[in-house]
Amino acid sequence: MGLDDLLKNVQIAAIVCNQLGDTGKGKFSYYFASHWANVTARGTGGNNAGHTVIVNGKEKIFHLLPTGIVNDSKGQVTIMGNGMVIDLAALLNELKELEQEGKSYNNLMISKDAHVIMPYHVFYDRKKDQSQKAGGIGTTGRGIGPAYSDKIARRGITIGDLFNVDGLAKKVDRSLEYYPDSKKDRDEIISSLTLQSNKIKPFFRNTVSEMHRFVREGKKILLEGAQGLLLSIEHGTYPYVTSSDCSLNGTASGVGLSAKMIDLPLGIIKFPFMTRVGAGAFPSELGGNASEIYCAEEGHGKLDELKKYCIPSVVENGKIIYDKRHRKIINMMNSRDEFIQGVGIRLAAGEYGATTGRPRRVGWIDAVAAKYAVGINGPLFVLTKVDAVDSLDEFKVCYGYSNKEGLHQNFSKDDGFLRTVSPQYNNYGAYFDVSSIRDYIKLPRSLKGAIYDFENFTGGRVVIVSVGADREETIVR
Ligand code: IMO
Ligand code: MG
Repeated sequence: MGLDDLLKNVQIAAIVCNQLGDTGKGKFSYYFASHWANVTARGTGGNNAGHTVIVNGKEKIFHLLPTGIVNDSKGQVTIMGNGMVIDLAALLNELKELEQEGKSYNNLMISKDAHVIMPYHVFYDRKKDQSQKAGGIGTTGRGIGPAYSDKIARRGITIGDLFNVDGLAKKVDRSLEYYPDSKKDRDEIISSLTLQSNKIKPFFRNTVSEMHRFVREGKKILLEGAQGLLLSIEHGTYPYVTSSDCSLNGTASGVGLSAKMIDLPLGIIKFPFMTRVGAGAFPSELGGNASEIYCAEEGHGKLDELKKYCIPSVVENGKIIYDKRHRKIINMMNSRDEFIQGVGIRLAAGEYGATTGRPRRVGWIDAVAAKYAVGINGPLFVLTKVDAVDSLDEFKVCYGYSNKEGLHQNFSKDDGFLRTVSPQYNNYGAYFDVSSIRDYIKLPRSLKGAIYDFENFTGGRVVIVSVGADREETIVR
């Protein structure tokens, strides 16, 4: 089957992550935006996201803008939806970057109802969550939690409020009552908000009614999720989550739609390994607690780890370049020491935060969590990064958690529970370089066997397999 078959009769598609973020939403949003969509929209989160896309062979990271913005010159509409929280300075930076690259953003629409991340939200987020090691959540420090808290407490400032000059001052004053340390900056905050809002004025819209118009007109609409199901405030491993509902439901309501209207909901899953950034339970983590603590410490970024394990690298235009299949990395990936194996996979797959540069915690794919995801985000899976670990001698899939009460094959988002269990694995053999494969049948036998078992256990159906970062390195089943 090709992409055309998959998209037959589809008007609204959504790409959400079924794990803990960083699964390749960017690649697939860009892929669908370029091959299919007329409109791309984001409905949750803010610049805590880091969506990496390869545009004309060059890596580009989006934090706030939906990746479809790259197709602006073709008339594609890009929507930042009502469910988002927007840091204006970060948005203006992203827009400036586009300008510097000679790209347009004439068809951008920013929801009047999205909430504004204020400078004191960022300050407070960083102060409160200072250290993951000291028991913090390990947020991205972008002010996400405080901005959503103010929204829920009904004292948030919306994009629409920015254009009501008298009303704005009153709202800022009311909001500042809760951030007394920042009261001294009141005038400066208001004047910079005014300056910034003037720059985004041309894009200010009632995006919900625009969205409904696009639906009526039969436009093809792509919803680009952010974060991941297990980080959702509603369904994730609370309290180690983000502050929005980044499930399929939250993504739909974040652009003014019902999830019921989504014809093709795709849940992205990294396979056969997965990652987590920040604190929170991760039963299948390689190196367990030691890895969690290590990844929370400063000084273990990409360059630090390359140096520590004596892997040659060069820095060109701020980008760290190294051979991801260096003999030493392959040895580490296959080490019997699970902690080292985790570092090896991290290096082989380049798993360092696109937003914060933090090392991502690495573990085996958790089929129990994926089964849970089917119940919420639906049964259609996109597997990503299978190419990144093709030098493993064997890989594992977690099919259950055991503790003193026995074997559990249903997920529970309870952090305490997830920390008491030991993962139960099935092992699968090595597979070779898959990056040039475009036909599902030609995938190595061990991988197909693992996918077959994974589908049987989860009740999901793998419809796409990604075999590389580039848009075309994709198998549609
Ligand atoms: P994308 O869209 C991975 C994690 C943070 C932290 C927790 C709360 O690139 O997949 P927050 O700043 O949101 O209050 O942090 O959520 N987190 C992500 N992890 N990918 C993301 O986004 C994330 N956005 C937030 O690391 O543990
Ligand atoms: Mg990311």
